[in-house]
Amino acid sequence: MRDVTLTELFQHPITKKHLQRSGIAHAIEVAYNAFHLAFKYNVSVDLATKAALLHDIGHYEWYRQGKWDYEQYRKNDIHAIKGAERAHKLLVRLGENPQNAKLISVAILLHTDSYLPEVDIKRSPLQKVVKLADEMDEEQGGNHHYKQIDQITALEKIQQLDQLVDHHLPKQQLQQNNQEKLM
Ligand SMILES: [Fe+2]
Repeated sequence: MRDVTLTELFQHPITKKHLQRSGIAHAIEVAYNAFHLAFKYNVSVDLATKAALLHDIGHYEWYRQGKWDYEQYRKNDIHAIKGAERAHKLLVRLGENPQNAKLISVAILLHTDSYLPEVDIKRSPLQKVVKLADEMDEEQGGNHHYKQIDQITALEKIQQLDQLVDHHLPKQQLQQNNQEKLM
């Protein structure tokens, strides 16, 4: 049993408000990418999908006279920092285990290099999964943020992903327990 499901996160008013800005279709696509990558990188499908779903909830709208102002965005954007904080608050509020809330939040913090000083970051497998899952859905000119999906399909996709996570997570946990016993 998970403390919080993707459906609960997705349906929360805070998530709805912020995903409308950064793109619901993109968030769902990245969550599915993260689910598939989680097996390759041996990370929890629960943590990977949650971090991926919420990775862009820190976006601010840099519009000037009805047009997206890329220069302002590039200069001033800190969406990964804001997203990490928002996601953490939301997860804790919904009853997520504090350790998981931290892991998800830090993966969101490090999902992009765009705001970071030029340093080499050694990302954990979970952090890599979220970054890669996002990059897999990136389109030129930020078009991935504008892809459309209707509300019913969006919710169905999230519910399907919850089922997939519920199905695979116990197997992953069992494998992990067996590995720990061998160590
Ligand atoms: Fe993204």
